[in-house]
Parts: sequence; structure tokens; C-alpha cells
Amino acid sequence: MTISPNSHPTHATTAKPKILVARAIFPEALAKLEEDFEVRSNQADQILSSEELKKALSEVVGALVTGSERIDALALANAQNLKVISNISVGYNNFDVPAMTVAGVMATNTPDVLTDTTADFGFALLMATARRITESEHWVRAGKWAQWSIINNPLGMDLHHSTLGIIGMGRIGQGIAKRALGFGMNVIYHNRSRLSEADEKACGATYVSKEELLKTADHVVLVLPYTPENHHTIGAKEIGLMKSTATLINIARGGIVDDLALAQALKTGKIFAAGLDVFEGEPKVIPELLELSNVVLAPHIASATEKTRRAMVDLAIENLRAAIGGKRPPSLINAEVIRS
Ligand code: 8YV
Repeated sequence: MTISPNSHPTHATTAKPKILVARAIFPEALAKLEEDFEVRSNQADQILSSEELKKALSEVVGALVTGSERIDALALANAQNLKVISNISVGYNNFDVPAMTVAGVMATNTPDVLTDTTADFGFALLMATARRITESEHWVRAGKWAQWSIINNPLGMDLHHSTLGIIGMGRIGQGIAKRALGFGMNVIYHNRSRLSEADEKACGATYVSKEELLKTADHVVLVLPYTPENHHTIGAKEIGLMKSTATLINIARGGIVDDLALAQALKTGKIFAAGLDVFEGEPKVIPELLELSNVVLAPHIASATEKTRRAMVDLAIENLRAAIGGKRPPSLINAEVIRS
């Protein structure tokens, strides 16, 4: 693909700083950026190859990227003037942060603005999975409603007064726990570090080991960040600890669950159902999952409301502008880059 400069300086003498916007963003946000920057945009939304990304980064002082752009030493190899890479995402496993710091590049993300929207979605996916909503819709569309009876329906699992296990108790995990209180659920959680007493009280959650959580939860929701240590946090062994009536929800990152092991467990009824918003190797989904009816599949949309995606873009732009303007970006990840 070619990336074409979208802005044309009004005066030949005006040298605006050059930036890259690596994926399509809202046109109004792009237009505002073009007032102050020479923007290399990608409204066609074709994912840049690693060579294209490396070349584009060598020509700009800042870039807005998403999870589809891997920012590592290779991508930064020729980026002599680059000051900041601003992720339109709270998760930043697409960043090699140490490599960015070595290159003197600020790394930023978009926390907070998506917390409630993502927690809402986690809950929606949990409900859709436990109550077999997408499967039921297919049932209606397939003309099976005439076969309705008290026992012949997609029969689901209750949420109310069940035990919800949350693995990863950051802002989004806590948001899900607070929603669960309204359903009278017993909330248990596991996290790298235990919450303060006050935070545990606020979300009515009890800290347990990962093993105990997997053994006792009726519904397990994954909201932990992806790190190499978290790779396949949930594999065949962990699924083997879960109840056969349990559901598993992944709104964290692909790679946290061993998707193939999960597909096998769903096929053989080791657990009841799963709801997945993220996948190993997304946007590809393994055929073993696609052929199952007891899994709800979503295309990484946990933060996808109009208001929240706009807020994420706005915060990412605020981070970018601050860094280029010599100020500390509001959500700087590698603070050591400005101390050195
Ligand atoms: C993004 C996300 O849509 O913020 C995150 O961590 O997973 C989503 O909100 C996605 O990563 C796009 O960059």
C-alpha cells in the first residue's frame, strides 16, 4: 500500500511537524490534526507492513497507532526524529517498551476513558454466553421456534447469585465486579497484587488463589494484561480445574487463553460455554472454535461505542500533542524516557 500525505501546507514556508496516523480515525479528528501537522494518514485502513511502518516512522516526529502496529527495535531502527508513539488503546502489548525507551521514544496509551464501556461489554458477553443469546437467535432464524417446549430450548446458566471469578483486577476488572453486585453475585478475584481493603470492599470482591478461583467460580472472566508470563494463563490444565457447568469469558488479549485447548474443552463438554472478544492470531479465528455453537464470538469490540472510541482517539491525540510540544503526556508509560 502507499501512504499519501494528506495535508498541504497553505504557505510554502510553513514547516509543520510530520506525524503518522497509522490507521483510520474519525475524519474530524484527522482534520484538526491537519491544521497543525503534516499528516501521513491511512484512511484506507490497510495495515502497514513492518517495512512500511519502519519507513513511515523514519520520517515523522510522532505517530498514532493501534494494536495492529508492532513497535519494536526493528520498527524504530531509522526513527531518528521520533518523539512519541501514541497507542489508541489501553493495552500496549504491541509495544516493546524497553526498546522504545532506549530509542528515546515516549510510549503512551488511553487508560480510564474506556473502563466503563469495556466493563459493560464484559458483562454483556458474560450474559450472552451464560444465557445462550446468540445461539438462541440462530435457533429463531433457523425456524426452530415451532419446536419450543419447556425443555426444548437453549437452556442456559444463571448469573444471579452465582460465583463470578475475575482474573486481573485492574480498573476494568473492578468495573465488572461492581456490576456483578447488582446481580447478587458472589465475586472472587485473582490478581498479581491484592487490592487494598477499601477497594476490595468497594467491589465486594474476595481475593483467592488462581486455583481456587478456577475450581469454585461459576463464571470466569479474564481481564489481565498480556505479557509473555501470562501466555496461556488458561490452558488445558486450568480448564480441567473448572466446573463442567462453568463459562469462560476472555476480554483481555489473545494468547492469554490457549484457544485450541479451549475449543477441545468446549467440544467435549469439559466446560459449558465461552465468550471471546479476543483471539490468538486475530483477526483470524481457528476453525475449531468457529464450528462450535457453545461459544460466543466477537471481533475485539469491548471498547467499541461511538463515545468511547472518540474519547480514546482524543486522548491519544492529547498525548501526541503534549509530547511533540515538549510537555509530559497525560498517559506516559515510560516516564524514564524524560528523566534520562
Ligand atoms: C482497542 C483494546 O480497541 O484498549 C485496548 O486495550 O483492546 C481495545 O480497546 C484495541 O486494542 C485497538 O487498539
